Amino acid sequence: MNRSRLIRISIASLFGLVFAALIAAWTISLDQQAQNTARSVGFTAGVNIGGPYTLIDHTGAATTEARFAGQYQLIYFGFTFCPDFCPTELQVFARTLDLLGDQSSNVQPLFITIDPARDTVSQLAQYVGLFHPRLVGLTGSEAQVAQAAKAYKVFFAKAPGSDSENYVMDHSTFSYLMGPDGRLITVFPHGTSAEDMARTIRNAMKAAVP
Ligand code: NI
Repeated sequence: MNRSRLIRISIASLFGLVFAALIAAWTISLDQQAQNTARSVGFTAGVNIGGPYTLIDHTGAATTEARFAGQYQLIYFGFTFCPDFCPTELQVFARTLDLLGDQSSNVQPLFITIDPARDTVSQLAQYVGLFHPRLVGLTGSEAQVAQAAKAYKVFFAKAPGSDSENYVMDHSTFSYLMGPDGRLITVFPHGTSAEDMARTIRNAMKAAVP
């Protein structure tokens, strides 16, 4: 790792920490409003995360955010050539679904690439199959991917110094839990266990029952 990459990653991490602090602040306010439903929790968070996108799934089907309306969504942005964070996180997603058992039927895991140049439909199809049969991979044009990433305030950039074919992407490593209304419920920092994710999802589902 060269010096400029280290600096870039440090800056990205700093943004991550600020983001994590914001999330922590929301979570505290969420506890104070425990009577609120998961729906209003997303609303109360008061930060716009998510929104419209148009992408292509790993079967080649055009997909917008509307396809997943009414479901909880676990969303991760990354790239299939990622050597570390992405595969680890997707394994956590798979285990979370397993832990949820029957309740996982209303939870849609999504992997959205931030490297559409290499993550073609067929590349994504092979990749998502390694993790979970219900994992949906999404790609698109550079502009479409940028739009989706912007909606979720995802940082990504080609790591400087890498060559044009064997490059690495720096990217933020949060997982997003979205509610059936498409609003953010919470963000999981990298390193959150499947047990914690499953518990948070169960609590959100419980809170949403009127
Ligand atoms: Ni990654």
